[in-house]
Amino acid sequence: MRYLVTYDTQHGSAKRLAQIIAQRLDCLCVNVDTPFQAEDESVYDTLVLVFGFRGPYTAQLTKLFLNNMKGKLHYKHLVVVGEGLFSEKEFPSVAEGIRGIAEPYSFRQYFMKGQLRVNTLTPEEQALLGKFSQLTGMQITDMGEFDPETAAGIAEQIAADTKELPIPEDPNGGQKKWICSVCGYVHTGDTPPESCPTCRQPASAFKPLT
Ligand SMILES: Cc1cc2nc3c(=O)[nH]c(=O)nc-3n(C[C@H](O)[C@H](O)[C@H](O)COP(=O)(O)O)c2cc1C
Repeated sequence: MRYLVTYDTQHGSAKRLAQIIAQRLDCLCVNVDTPFQAEDESVYDTLVLVFGFRGPYTAQLTKLFLNNMKGKLHYKHLVVVGEGLFSEKEFPSVAEGIRGIAEPYSFRQYFMKGQLRVNTLTPEEQALLGKFSQLTGMQITDMGEFDPETAAGIAEQIAADTKELPIPEDPNGGQKKWICSVCGYVHTGDTPPESCPTCRQPASAFKPLT
């Protein structure tokens, strides 16, 4: 099984977790926000997305990335790993939303309790948490600890749950792809389409995608 791990982090906990997972899976670990190998889906069979919870901004960059990858993950296994302080119950619906964007071949999800160090937050984040605190009556202080052993346990579980998975064959694998130079629509086939189904440009607007 070829893996790739990405992380979506603000304060580094999701990155630490992602690195522990990548080490166990013996694969590359990259920030989901940077141009990277994840966009070349031919280099992995299983994509592991790790993100820290951030209220309404949870997994924002991960979702953006998946929107850019639309239609490319049908023949990939997807693993979603959330890391947060109190959203364990919310996590399945967040993970389900991510699954809906990616539409992968198979899907697994894992949650790890996170940590919060208030003095590492930006003033904006402290203000956001201040509002949250007012709404919920919950006092926001330093909470939790990043536990490398829990992280290693999750990594072990991911390895065990995915290593025997069949590697799905992409029916479009090996086929030529063409990209519309105006709107970015990707067409699979020996020749470009007569016109672009999204922006109506003629076949000449299509360039081979390598
Ligand atoms: C602005 C902000 C919002 C947060 N919102 C949530 C939340 O909705 N649910 C949750 O479980 N944890 C929440 N947390 C806690 C973080 O998920 C936790 O600190 C996590 O370790 C952050 O991951 P990171 O270090 O990779 O950014 C929030 C933290 C901050 C700073």
